[in-house]
Amino acid sequence: MVKSIDATVAIIGAGPSGLLLSQLLHQSGISSVIVERTSKKRVLERIRAGILERGTVEGMEEAGCAERLHAECIPHDGVILSFDGEQFEIPVKAITGHQVIVYGQTEITKDLIDACEARGQRIYWDCADAELAGLDSNAPQVGFTTPDGETISLSADIIAGCDGFHGISRQSIPAARLREFERTYPFGWLGILVDQPPVAHNVIYANHQDGFALASMRSETRSRYYVQSAPGESVDDWSTERFWEAFTHRLGDLGKQVKTGEPIEKSIAPLRSYVSEPMRHGRLFMAGDSAHIVPPTGAKGLNLAFADVRRLSRAIAQWHASGSEEPLEGYSIEALARVWKVERFSWYLTSMMHQFPEHSGFEKNMQRAEFDYIRASEAGQTMIAENYVGLPF
Ligand code: APR
Ligand code: PHB
Repeated sequence: MVKSIDATVAIIGAGPSGLLLSQLLHQSGISSVIVERTSKKRVLERIRAGILERGTVEGMEEAGCAERLHAECIPHDGVILSFDGEQFEIPVKAITGHQVIVYGQTEITKDLIDACEARGQRIYWDCADAELAGLDSNAPQVGFTTPDGETISLSADIIAGCDGFHGISRQSIPAARLREFERTYPFGWLGILVDQPPVAHNVIYANHQDGFALASMRSETRSRYYVQSAPGESVDDWSTERFWEAFTHRLGDLGKQVKTGEPIEKSIAPLRSYVSEPMRHGRLFMAGDSAHIVPPTGAKGLNLAFADVRRLSRAIAQWHASGSEEPLEGYSIEALARVWKVERFSWYLTSMMHQFPEHSGFEKNMQRAEFDYIRASEAGQTMIAENYVGLPF
């Protein structure tokens, strides 16, 4: 027996993109159903970056989900760059008039799930075998199986592919219609979470001859720290002692002030830049990691996803109100214009701040010259500051 249900928008994936989209559509009176492959517990356990642009905060406000964020967030007026132990701060607020704020992605996800549940929105967790059909028609469908073994056929006007890099949405687009652009980096990031006060009030991006290090935070008492790791390394290759030795050394003098401790979480992630074009195929619209990946340098992943989702929700709301296809038609081109700029910034900061095994003395001197140039140039600092707080969209 197949159970049939319907909604205006079928959302694949209950990550930050799918959850925000559902909430924004609800604010415009548009119904949606979310289908998620994994469990609520696993979605809530994921630890990702925690630096939010102004536009991301606005997205949470529009969604009516910013109360806890405003109560608990830590605003940042600047960001620190460090090179072989020498440091300077870019005063992003003084330059742009805007701050970024620290609020973990885990908290964003929790706030959005709570909002969905509070208004009785069903999220189909733990669903297997999601399949998209009829993308070229005005009546696309999503088939999936619930954990109780029930087969569901979901009819919608629009499907939103918010199912991340490994999802099925992008795979449902005929290969001949997609163009993919990718760059992988010859290193990863080993990240730890530790219940100790952060070493500095601001985030520090450090390039050291031994490799990159990043000092970030989740709260006044919880720090999030990273070091560059070699390809193929796993968390087992990084004892706690090895981590603290590498991390503190790479921060120079500031490293001596780091409060160490036993990590409460340790994970490793590869770095990749990736864009898939277009972000639309018929009635399927892609948003977030399903369409693009940025390396984490600059913390743009979530922010870029939210920029897509805000744009998509507006396009859907305009289409819904007017019946005109025009707002939907502009989505991919407009979203991609911003995506590529954010890809550029994430790639640039990654390139400037890491040790690349293939680099000769020439490239190492180029990095040093870039750092010295930015330190001395108002124009250079403005470029970084306006990207860091978030480009308009
Ligand atoms: N069916 C249903 N759900 C799926 C499927 C599928 N076939 N494949 C993947 N998913 C779910 C994943 O389990 C995940 O919960 O889609 C969700 C995608 O979430 P994210 O990967 O977090 O992607 P997105 O919501 O676009 O988030 C963008 O947040 O998670 C970070 O690194 C990410 O920073 C980026 C930003
Ligand atoms: C984080 O807080 O986890 C973080 C901060 C900045 C980054 C990436 C991650 O660039």
